Amino acid sequence: MGDQNRVYLFDTTLRDGEQSPGVSLNVEEKLEIAQQLERLGVDVIEAGFPIASAGDFRAVQTIARHVRQPVITGLCRAIRADIDRTWEALKEAESPRIHTFLATSDIHLKYKLQKSREEVLAQAVDAVKYAKKYCSDVEFSAEDASRSDLDFLAQVVEAVIDAGATVVNLPDTVGYAVPEEFGQFIRTIYERVPNIDRAIVSVHCHNDLGLAVANSLAGLNNGARQVECAVNGIGERAGNAALEEIIMALYTRQAFYNRKIQVNYQEIYRTSRLVSSLTGMVLQPNKAIVGKNAFLHESGIHQDGVLKERSTYEIMNAELIGINRSNLVLGKHSGRHAFNERLQELGYTLNEEELQKAFLAFKDLADKKKEVNNDDIEALVKDRAWAVPERFRLTYLHISSGTNIVPTATVKLAIDKLVFEAAATGAGPVEAACHAVDRITDIYGKMLDYKLNAVGSGKDALGEVISRIQIGDKLYNGRGLSTDIIEASVKSYINAINKYYYEQQRLAE
Ligand code: KIV
Ligand code: ZN
Repeated sequence: MGDQNRVYLFDTTLRDGEQSPGVSLNVEEKLEIAQQLERLGVDVIEAGFPIASAGDFRAVQTIARHVRQPVITGLCRAIRADIDRTWEALKEAESPRIHTFLATSDIHLKYKLQKSREEVLAQAVDAVKYAKKYCSDVEFSAEDASRSDLDFLAQVVEAVIDAGATVVNLPDTVGYAVPEEFGQFIRTIYERVPNIDRAIVSVHCHNDLGLAVANSLAGLNNGARQVECAVNGIGERAGNAALEEIIMALYTRQAFYNRKIQVNYQEIYRTSRLVSSLTGMVLQPNKAIVGKNAFLHESGIHQDGVLKERSTYEIMNAELIGINRSNLVLGKHSGRHAFNERLQELGYTLNEEELQKAFLAFKDLADKKKEVNNDDIEALVKDRAWAVPERFRLTYLHISSGTNIVPTATVKLAIDKLVFEAAATGAGPVEAACHAVDRITDIYGKMLDYKLNAVGSGKDALGEVISRIQIGDKLYNGRGLSTDIIEASVKSYINAINKYYYEQQRLAE
């Protein structure tokens, strides 16, 4: 079955990753991420869980229609109605795969499913056979495999392969395994399942003990051929194995693992940044591979060593994964051509209209900030990913705030061709401005999370605010950018309100 040495990268950022507490992506954001994953070159994209909600269904369907290179899959329980719905979402994909799952551990059987082993075995086989009627590529996941009775698990794996499963996934659902044991577990499945060579064995490890990547690699080293992971390691609870860490471990330690992957390494960093900004999940600075500090050397001895010979203290090359170290600045005299060249260097190809918009934003920024660096430029174009039609646009903001005065904000918003004004007070200037926005829009959001990042360095650095806003029972991420952090905060709030408004319009259509 294909090249035995090849490792297939299965990305579940949009399914398990989106199950990270507090993360909620809309269809456009999911498509943007899926297109970036396609550029990165992953083999499989798990685009969502179609039966979970109308939004999930639409996201899987949209990605199936527009992202043609990788296999596109959607998750479903081992239930016929779930499988029907998943196929409905996937059917236009170039290479669809139905991914169905059922728990096999006694703990899950007893407390969650309240079913006997015989019933679970029959249900798993039925689900695979049923999915197979729609689609030749069917993956079966034995949920909580690593805590399952090995004899029973081997029986289930053999039966689902006989029923037509092309991929069998053995997850460490609760992140309980340790590497030596997990590697041995995969080896044992190979030894005990006589028809195992008819399917691809996959691993899917959670990070509850911080071992998701180590366990996945141990699984691969013991014969697994597909690895399920998520960008930046996001996912349920402590997350999934981090895609970028798996890729770079296999690349950097190729002599040890001797396995092949096919990815466009240059896209790793950009993929990580996109997922971080759209999910609002900011990376810890010391995050392996993609954290801010991953390639920085603080100690003089290290710096000296790297200047003499990079390999003294660096095992990977930052440029390989798309980190641009030459951060030459642009300024207000830089022209459109230089700006566009820098964008191309950074890997952004904009159409004429996008370029003009970005260039005007750059000029505006260069007026306020002496030196504009790569981080600033990326921050400007990243706006594309957040773009929703601007029903409400900030045209004016005045804040009165300080010690011993009640913070007061006056806000003007353009709606179509009219401009509306409101004033309000709050515990702080951001709250005051958000209250004023609420008065104009008549949409009342609750700010659940608020993060302010400085883009680049210096007192005149751009402030990027990522907020998570609850409206009704749904969550919306908003992003705002400005050299004035109160303005960035209000823009972020309005961005979330625009997403809500846009979604309401779409639902009403
Ligand atoms: O962790 C898990 O077991 C899963 C399966 C549904 C694949 O996410
Ligand atoms: Zn999982």
